[in-house]
Amino acid sequence: MLSVEERKEIESKLADYPNSQAMSIEAMLIVQRHRGWVTDESLRDLSELLGLSVADLDGVATFYNLIRRKPVGRHVVHVCDSVSCWIMGVERVCSQLCTNLGIALGGTTADGRFTVLPIVCLGACDHAPAVMIDGKLHEDFNGQRIEEILAQYE
Ligand code: FES
Repeated sequence: MLSVEERKEIESKLADYPNSQAMSIEAMLIVQRHRGWVTDESLRDLSELLGLSVADLDGVATFYNLIRRKPVGRHVVHVCDSVSCWIMGVERVCSQLCTNLGIALGGTTADGRFTVLPIVCLGACDHAPAVMIDGKLHEDFNGQRIEEILAQYE
């Protein structure tokens, strides 16, 4: 069930969009900010609130890679896997990051602290490799900086 806060926040933004379909991504991001991910139950409630089918909302969520349909850790590390970062060795850095955390790409640490996910170009190609942690961009993310940067996230 949507919380009172989630519902209020969504309803307050509805007027900013031409129709509820246009509001669907924002509505799911609001739920995600409150819960960390978008549950099936939330999707059903959003479907009623916005007058859209669950299948349509799920389709949007699947297409838009910043909407999460599975639980994640307290901090989400998005590792860019597009061309510039790939050329600058992101595969090696990602492997080192996952080894440090003891997980595979897509996994969550046992203590629920981090989830590591791939993402397309973050728009920081001139400072590749790039990662984004909880929405904050970290450029020139090389092996020497992994520990220092992760330590900023409890
Ligand atoms: S290719 Fe990674 S930031 Fe653009």
